[in-house]
Amino acid sequence: MKIIAHRGASGEAPENTLAAMALAIEQGADAIEIDVHLCQNELVVIHDHHVDKTTSGTGPVLDYSLAELQQLDAGQGQRVPTLWQVLKLAAGKMEFNIELKGHGCDQPLPELLQRAIDELGYRPEQFIISSFHHPMLARFHRNAPQYAIGALTACCPLDLAKFATDLDANTLHVEAEMVSKELIADAKQRGLPVYVYTVDRPKMLNELKQLGVDGVFTNYPQRSRQHLQQHHQ
Ligand code: G3P
Ligand code: MG
Repeated sequence: MKIIAHRGASGEAPENTLAAMALAIEQGADAIEIDVHLCQNELVVIHDHHVDKTTSGTGPVLDYSLAELQQLDAGQGQRVPTLWQVLKLAAGKMEFNIELKGHGCDQPLPELLQRAIDELGYRPEQFIISSFHHPMLARFHRNAPQYAIGALTACCPLDLAKFATDLDANTLHVEAEMVSKELIADAKQRGLPVYVYTVDRPKMLNELKQLGVDGVFTNYPQRSRQHLQQHHQ
């Protein structure tokens, strides 16, 4: 089961910061999930539409210039990184699930990913792009079909994994409470690996492993990996 660091190793470092990315890499995560918004024309890594919850600032990300945004304290002296800074830190040696949060943030992404491939040594297979905003995700996929997309849902879908097939997605990303045997079986039948968020509790890790889930998003990559190794030899 793949260990995906949720917002970096965000249980032990400020979420979506370079410190959280460095820790996820150090802890041997298989991949890192990050959330992106547009700030002016730059893709920045932050979860909420507003900066209030994770930084020293207030108000919408959209109201900030990049310079202003990067003056805020994102926890323990960390800054809100750009997507480019995060990709640069991992230097082509990590898989990323880039979750599109802000409106329009699909637009500059293909060019930035291509630059990461050309200049940082990434391969297209190292990226999965996901979003709750399915029309935006579909638009990204039309513009840049060379990248895998993940159909993301926080709901229990009426037609199981059908919405992921409709999106022509490569993976299914589902909230932990919404997982069922039926959903997993349906996803498998459709050839879709299933990734579940956010899983930090050992009991849930065990249950999902037994259900045949392919990966978990966890705030504690090291601890989750150790638990799985001890309980599933
Ligand atoms: O991409 C999985 C998960 O991160 C989706 O929910 O709110 O943590 O971004 P959220
Ligand atoms: Mg996310």
